[in-house]
Amino acid sequence: MPFEYNFLNRDEELYTLQDAFLNEVIKKKKCVSFLIRGRYGIGKSRLIHEFLNSIETDQRIAVNIPKLRRSIHAIEYECQKDSSEPYQPFMEIKEQMEAQQKGFRILKNSFMLMISLLPIHDVVDDLQKIVNEIKTGKQEDVIRAKETKTFAKYLKMLKKRSQRVPVLLCIQNVQWIDDFSLKLLQTLIENEDSFWGMIILEENESKSLNSTTATVFSRLYNEQKIKNLSLKLLQKGFEIKILEERLRPRLFTQVEFEHIYTLSEGCPGILAELVDDWIRLQGNS
Ligand SMILES: Nc1ncnc2c1ncn2[C@@H]1O[C@H](COP(=O)(O)OP(=O)(O)OP(=O)(O)O)[C@@H](O)[C@H]1O
Ligand SMILES: [Mg+2]
Repeated sequence: MPFEYNFLNRDEELYTLQDAFLNEVIKKKKCVSFLIRGRYGIGKSRLIHEFLNSIETDQRIAVNIPKLRRSIHAIEYECQKDSSEPYQPFMEIKEQMEAQQKGFRILKNSFMLMISLLPIHDVVDDLQKIVNEIKTGKQEDVIRAKETKTFAKYLKMLKKRSQRVPVLLCIQNVQWIDDFSLKLLQTLIENEDSFWGMIILEENESKSLNSTTATVFSRLYNEQKIKNLSLKLLQKGFEIKILEERLRPRLFTQVEFEHIYTLSEGCPGILAELVDDWIRLQGNS
């Protein structure tokens, strides 16, 4: 397990997510989407992690939705660099939701819940059928027609799933999403009547977006369908807190700390790696 440092400097960004969740998702029953961007190691995943943890502990949220649980209502998926398998993310997201629901079902042993799950079992099969047709080179218009129907079904499934409690869909490394999943994602984001909840996308800006993905996100942003949250470098001084938390106080001089800040490039992820290396080297010497 990597060492987890105290969460620094991101109050404003965390508040932005919490505020949108409280005032737009919970109170207005909407689906709100965020694109969290920033360079490698700047703290995108950590921000999402802190936000997801806070949905259970934040009293303003808990009084409204006491049943909301990260382990049941948040789905996290990480796109892989070389995976171009169409719809893979959404197939796995659906499977994850089913697994979460099963656990919940055993827990509650509720007949009503079982009934509410019945009509949604085959949307993954439908996606798989489209994948087969893509691979056998079926005409585009045939594929399009099937996509429209299946996307509507996916949306319906999410709507049903979020009938009583909102769902939070988090997709990491979205810069690597395949073009077919991107279309489904776009449908979910731009649909006025989408499910109840939040879509949080994490984009590593150091890895360049392919042009289709970039165009889609900038259009969604211009149409105010998605909010952008660009993470800035951490302020000078964060390196002292991180180093003193992991090592010991006053181990370095002011000049050394300044040098360390420069090496970290203002990214906690880069600094965390430097500290890990340093501790490893100390252990070996
Ligand atoms: N605000 C913060 N305060 C303290 N530590 C942080 C903060 N943000 C991130 N970290 C730590 O820095 C490391 C890298 O953070 P994280 O994985 O969130 O970066 P990332 O931007 O998601 O990276 P990637 O581009 O690889 O996905 C983790 O160990 C994390 O706990
Ligand atoms: Mg990350």
